[in-house]
Amino acid sequence: MTCLFSLRRQLIGFVFILATWVPTTVGKVDYVIVGGGPSGYVTAELLSRNPNVTVTLLEAGADNDDSVNVNTPAYSPLNPDKAFFYYSEPDPNLGGLSPNVAQGKGLGGGTAINALGYCRGAASVFDQWATISGNPGLSWNSLLEDFEATTHYTHQPADYEQFVNESVFGDGPLEVTRSSFLTGLEIPFTAALKSILGLPDVSMVDGTGIGVDLSLGTIRSSNRSRSYARNTFGQLVENRPNVQVLTNSWVSRINFDGTTATGVDYVNTLSNASVALEAAEVILAGGALNSPKLLMQSGVGPSSVLSSLDIDIVADIPEIGQNLWDHHYSYIEFQVPDDIYTWWQITTNMTEIAISVAQYTNQSGAGPLGSNNGEAFAATRLPDSVFGLGVNGSHFTSLPADRPYVLYEFSTVPFRQPAPNISIAAVWVALVQPEASGYLTINSSSYLDPPLAHSNYYGSAADRAVMLAGYKQLRQVLASEPMRPHYMQEVWPGSNVTTDDQLWTAIQQSASSFHHPMGTLALGSVVGPDWRIKGLDGIRVVDSSTLPYLPTCHPQASVYAVAHRAARDIIRDDTVEL
Ligand SMILES: Cc1cc2nc3c(=O)[nH]c(=O)nc-3n(C[C@H](O)[C@H](O)[C@H](O)COP(=O)(O)OP(=O)(O)OC[C@H]3O[C@@H](n4cnc5c(N)ncnc54)[C@H](O)[C@@H]3O)c2cc1C
Ligand SMILES: *[C@@H]1O[C@H](CO)[C@@H](O)[C@H](O)[C@H]1NC(C)=O
Ligand SMILES: *[C@@H]1O[C@H](CO)[C@@H](O)[C@H](O)[C@H]1NC(C)=O
Ligand SMILES: *[C@@H]1O[C@H](CO)[C@@H](O)[C@H](O)[C@H]1NC(C)=O
Ligand SMILES: *[C@@H]1O[C@H](CO)[C@@H](O)[C@H](O)[C@H]1NC(C)=O
Ligand SMILES: *[C@@H]1O[C@H](CO)[C@@H](O)[C@H](O)[C@H]1NC(C)=O
Ligand SMILES: *[C@@H]1O[C@H](CO)[C@@H](O)[C@H](O)[C@H]1NC(C)=O
Ligand SMILES: *[C@@H]1O[C@H](CO)[C@@H](O)[C@H](O)[C@H]1NC(C)=O
Ligand SMILES: *[C@@H]1O[C@H](CO)[C@@H](O)[C@H](O)[C@H]1NC(C)=O
Ligand SMILES: *[C@@H]1O[C@H](CO)[C@@H](O)[C@H](O)[C@H]1NC(C)=O
Ligand SMILES: *[C@@H]1O[C@H](CO)[C@@H](O)[C@H](O)[C@H]1NC(C)=O
Repeated sequence: MTCLFSLRRQLIGFVFILATWVPTTVGKVDYVIVGGGPSGYVTAELLSRNPNVTVTLLEAGADNDDSVNVNTPAYSPLNPDKAFFYYSEPDPNLGGLSPNVAQGKGLGGGTAINALGYCRGAASVFDQWATISGNPGLSWNSLLEDFEATTHYTHQPADYEQFVNESVFGDGPLEVTRSSFLTGLEIPFTAALKSILGLPDVSMVDGTGIGVDLSLGTIRSSNRSRSYARNTFGQLVENRPNVQVLTNSWVSRINFDGTTATGVDYVNTLSNASVALEAAEVILAGGALNSPKLLMQSGVGPSSVLSSLDIDIVADIPEIGQNLWDHHYSYIEFQVPDDIYTWWQITTNMTEIAISVAQYTNQSGAGPLGSNNGEAFAATRLPDSVFGLGVNGSHFTSLPADRPYVLYEFSTVPFRQPAPNISIAAVWVALVQPEASGYLTINSSSYLDPPLAHSNYYGSAADRAVMLAGYKQLRQVLASEPMRPHYMQEVWPGSNVTTDDQLWTAIQQSASSFHHPMGTLALGSVVGPDWRIKGLDGIRVVDSSTLPYLPTCHPQASVYAVAHRAARDIIRDDTVEL
């Protein structure tokens, strides 16, 4: 239904010819937004509040708003078909392994398929962004307005205690709530974390960076369905006559006149027809891997890369694609007894499947399907002693006091495939404030080819020291008193893995992306405080590529808030011109 709807609008609005090499030129809009993820949708919603402003949002993927696997929180792992399934380049730090770094594709972007965790993390990160960018609006105290304006909190009644600082939510479209159902591991795991780390319960939405959190999710409490960019900001723009949202519309090129962007070419992926759309302003919101890729393929990036691919150079900007950050993690898996609700139970046991589906569909989202498979977490620093002789730990030891080094989290979904036929939980340690970054480049001028992400996992001696210490501490957590009744045996890497060398091999073999890439079009180096790409006119960036360094926990909250701030700045700056 919804797909037909958008296709109909497309046919009314545009004329196609069936040739891929000569784009049909259509009318001109004020803003063309490239990408229908959270940053694109938030920007579209704010800009189009003025009915005199025309906005076209182009999304490469489909509208999956009626998908059960998108809407049902526990089914979030079942959406690899709604992603750009990218892999990192073979990483020498991982013995040549290439973990996947899949990114959302379809209306909602990553928020349609992500694990729904909502948090903001340490306040000092945002203050650092304000300094780096020269935009004081990004400081924690200012950006809190945008965190509030994008969200509201709904209390979920349930039979457990949780400290949630509700004062830092507003009445924005995105709904945030807590779990209605516990898998059975949340309370023992967080008790174990508190006992080993000596940290309190906190609410990592109010600027707090360190502590233990039962976690919150982007879930509608009324029926426990996913709250995301498509059914919040997307719903608001759906019937505005000045907005067009076009799905299956993959932007293949940004067009320039000199160094001024004049619009884009996009390919209708159903027909392969190519369309040229002119715009007063191009706004990139394709995410941290696709936005720099598109720029490079359009002639903006490091000239050496562009020349080697015979791409005409619009502007030589060597920093484009540099500064690729992500939260990387490594995991341990263990067998749990029957009283823990795991993915294995809700997807392989026919009795449990029938019960959980009936609960969810007939009781307003009750039961395990209305929750995101666990996800309680802690964020902590580690003692200076982890930096042994000859390891320079000053990146970590000089971080502001509210910053953790690592994040520990659990899920009842096994990561390792093929998963053995037993009930398994996974715990992992993520390096959340790494010292070493990677970079992104291209080896093709075709929009159909993936970018090359040189992720540089655990890329400095201090990063490696923190990961090894974190991995060992995670085992201590699993071995602690509160976990004892819920822990049967380590399934991976296995209790025979004990020496530092063996543990490091396990860390490499289980190394994974948290799917939080950012920084490749960073504020400060590539993007100015006005969200414009320095040295170019008519083009801005509002997505996760702009974030110059990592928040201390899951980033979607920050992406929504930063795009909200960017849109406010753009409206202020453009009012005179339009
Ligand atoms: C599997 C997964 C799990 C995650 N889990 C969590 C979590 O639990 N909590 C959390 O806080 N964060 C999580 N994240 C991260 C979070 O979803 C992202 O940080 C966020 O979605 C980034 O927003 P964005 O707007 O920058 O880009 P995206 O969300 O990636 O959106 C970009 C959109 O642009 C489209 N696009 C790209 N290129 C083009 C083009 N050339 N033409 C047209 N359209 C284009 C894409 O199809 C996509 O829809 C997860 C992400 C993934 C992928
Ligand atoms: C839109 O344009 C009309 C006609 O020029 C003008 O009267 C109106 O104030 C404008 N609205 C806004 C919100 O700018
Ligand atoms: C909630 O967050 C606000 C804003 O950071 C803070 O001032 C307040 O102290 C917090 N409340 C509690 C109970 O921690
Ligand atoms: C859940 O409730 C919302 C309203 O809060 C409604 O719009 C939506 O269709 C419902 N979704 C499902 C999957 O039942
Ligand atoms: C569109 O182009 C792609 C890539 O060349 C090709 O795989 C696909 O079959 C084409 N689709 C149509 C409808 O022509
Ligand atoms: C499947 O679930 C039912 C109901 O909880 C339980 O009685 C049964 O033991 C489970 N079967 C297996 C193989 O775990
Ligand atoms: C929901 O309840 C109805 C009526 O009680 C029942 O017929 C149906 O089978 C239930 N649905 C599921 C999925 O169990
Ligand atoms: C240690 O690392 C920091 C950067 O984190 C750097 O500034 C400093 O020069 C390094 N010190 C030595 C002795 O290499
Ligand atoms: C998994 O194990 C259960 C017993 O616990 C068995 O009934 C089932 O057939 C097994 N499934 C597979 C795919 O081996
Ligand atoms: C580009 O890189 C990919 C991934 O490493 C590789 O598979 C492909 O062969 C490369 N293509 C060219 C033309 O070098
Ligand atoms: C641990 O035991 C497993 C299973 O027997 C084996 O595959 C693995 O190689 C062993 N690892 C080490 C480090 O000995």
